Formats: sequence, C-alpha cells, structure tokens
Amino acid sequence: MIDRTPRAFVFDAYGTLFDVHSVGALAEELAPGQGPILSQIWRGKQLQYTWLQSLMMPAQARDDFEQVTAKALDYALSQLTVPLGKGDRARLVDAYRHLAPFSDALDALAALAPRPRWILSNGTLAMLEPLVRESPLAPHIDGILSVDAAGVYKPSPRIYQLAVDALHCAPGEIAFVSANGWDAGGAKAFGFMTIWINRLGEPTERHAPEPDFIVGSLSHIAALG
Ligand code: LAC
Repeated sequence: MIDRTPRAFVFDAYGTLFDVHSVGALAEELAPGQGPILSQIWRGKQLQYTWLQSLMMPAQARDDFEQVTAKALDYALSQLTVPLGKGDRARLVDAYRHLAPFSDALDALAALAPRPRWILSNGTLAMLEPLVRESPLAPHIDGILSVDAAGVYKPSPRIYQLAVDALHCAPGEIAFVSANGWDAGGAKAFGFMTIWINRLGEPTERHAPEPDFIVGSLSHIAALG
C-alpha cells in the first residue's frame, strides 16, 4: 500500500494506456509472417531514436515523435527487407494515430476519479489529443502533456518537471504510472512515486532506482491507495 495517498496520477501513453503493438495486425497483413517482429523492431528503434536525439541534438533540431516514429518504421522495414509501397507505409504510419487502448485502462482510470488523471508522453499533442479524444478513455483523462514543451524526450528530468508545474504538486505527491520500465525508473529518479505496470514479467531495470510498486495490470492501481 502507498503510505502517502497520491494527489494526482500521471500516465505514460504509448505502451501503458495504448497498445503500440495493436499495429501488429496491419503489419502482418502487409508483411505476412513478419507482423510481430516488424512491430517489435519499430518500437525498439523509435525509443532508441528518442534517446539518441536527446543526446545529439539541440531542441530545435530534434525530430518530433511523429517524425521519429516514421523514421523508425523505415529502419524496421529496411532491416526485414519488407518492400512496401508508399501507400502501405502511410497506412502503417497512420495506424499509430489509432492505437487501441489496453483492455484494463478504462476501468483503472475511472476508479481513480476524482483525483486528476493526466498523460505525460513523448507524443506530440497533434498525435495524443485525437488518440485520446477518439478512444473510450477520453472522459477519464483530465489533461495531456507532451514532451515538446521541454524540447527533449523522456527520461530527462525536464520532462517529469512538466507534470509538477502543471499539477502544482510536489513530485512525491504524484503517482507516475508507466509500463516502460526505463520510464518508471526515470520518474523514480526524478522523485515521483512510481508504479511500473510490468505486464510481461520483465526483469527490473538496473540503471535507475526501482519503482515503488510493480504490478501486472493497470487494474491494481486503485487498490494501492
Ligand atoms: C510515451 C512513450 C514512452 O508515451 O511511449 O511517452
């Protein structure tokens, strides 16, 4: 149980509330037999590019998450030598704007009301706002923050600070929820109370402090306090 009740909850979007591998079905249709691996390489490269660009680039030169996502797709298609036409590539890029929410997300968010439930994500607002608006989660999201306001990607502490500034809470009063272990670790290093949604039973990351709570599903958050 949490010893101090959080005043607000901040959620990661991609991989936590929305399933990035819901593009897998279209990927499988376009590249038969390679859908799941295409989706895995795509996601892995996308994250790697966010970290590399945060190290390499001044803020104004950095690709936004939409650009990073498209470049990572090109890498994955090239690695697997999937010869896609422009139209099919565009369908895959577009699929990222319509990711499915995880089945445990809606009830988990609803159970936390009336405490604020925000999103803090690498995505641009142009990606995140329609994604949320067109999903059943919309009534249960109170605010959306994009890393673009800080010009760098997670897990820079400047990103987690955006939530502190927006919510007017101390870091220790905010529960940060992510299914990305490295994101939960970054948030814990920043000072948030952290909940890692470890759906796949992965080992804990070793480069950052351990999250305060490790649970297998979003459904377990409300019971923590
Ligand atoms: C996000 C990435 C980590 O939504 O998936 O910020």
